[in-house]
Amino acid sequence: MRLPFANIPIWPEGASKAAFEMDLLYLVIVGLTVFFCIIVFGLVIYFVAKYYAGSKADRSNPTFHNMPLELAWSLIPLALGLFVFGWAAKLFVEMQAPIQSENALNIYVVGKQWMWQMQHPTGQRENNELHIPVGRSVKLTLISQDVIHSFYVPAFRTKTDVVPGRYRTLWFEPTKVGKYHLFCAEFCGTKHAEMTGWVYVLSPEDYEKWLQDNRWGMGDEGVTVAQAGQALYEQLQCSSCHAPEQRIGPPLTGLYGSTRTLSDGRRVVADYDYLRQAILDPQAVTVSGHEPIMPPYRGQLTEQEVIQLIEFIKTLSAPEAPPVAEAEQSDDSGGNG
Ligand code: CUA
Repeated sequence: MRLPFANIPIWPEGASKAAFEMDLLYLVIVGLTVFFCIIVFGLVIYFVAKYYAGSKADRSNPTFHNMPLELAWSLIPLALGLFVFGWAAKLFVEMQAPIQSENALNIYVVGKQWMWQMQHPTGQRENNELHIPVGRSVKLTLISQDVIHSFYVPAFRTKTDVVPGRYRTLWFEPTKVGKYHLFCAEFCGTKHAEMTGWVYVLSPEDYEKWLQDNRWGMGDEGVTVAQAGQALYEQLQCSSCHAPEQRIGPPLTGLYGSTRTLSDGRRVVADYDYLRQAILDPQAVTVSGHEPIMPPYRGQLTEQEVIQLIEFIKTLSAPEAPPVAEAEQSDDSGGNG
């Protein structure tokens, strides 16, 4: 479906599922604004022309109240305002909420001064470029390595702040093959304006070909993000404490998505943010029943490496664990910690 003046370049090309509705919402808001501007200014001009000082207008029987009129000009704009709010909130939530699609492509994005680093789940990495297939939901997990950046793809009508210290997620579904601008939309230092790139939306076949042509890491097989995490896990000798038979650190099997009780009594869900903190600053989140002896890895791992470790830990969940973990998670969603 096309908007009436889609051929007039008043906004960038729309290339995601949300773009059409976003543009429609924008048009409705502009339309409402113009409509009420015309009414208000029209009446102002009309009354000025009629009642300017010295005009011969009839000033007998002035009206002070008109209940139906006053109710109308209060309630109609209220209803319209709430309608726009509800619509915009629905759209916002749809674009920000964790995507439920099993088929979604998970991409990990690290923003740093002054570039975007992307990691595909199958291991391919790229800088300031993102290759994705058309017609498939793409979920981004984003974090900054230094200051606040903002990941902005106008053609997808989507933007999110990328902040240090916690993960953000964003998803979209590209609908059109093409090449689209990627910007950083948050002033982040002297080279902020150079922190730009391109999103390439490819046909599924071209995307497969791109994946084949861009393997990285050890040998021809390529290394997935989780496998890179496993290599790090071994290199850092995490297993000397976390292997189940060691009984020193908490075992990592089934950890992701489960609920943990910390030594200070807090109950937390072992999600992406928790695991990141447990790696970088473990003593702040010591698990109940364990000594706070794990050394902090803050400053020793890049954000990309932390993501790799977390993705490896995710793969350690027992096959039957996820449904249980999810049930626990939703039970817990009422209370925060
Ligand atoms: Cu990063 Cu501006």
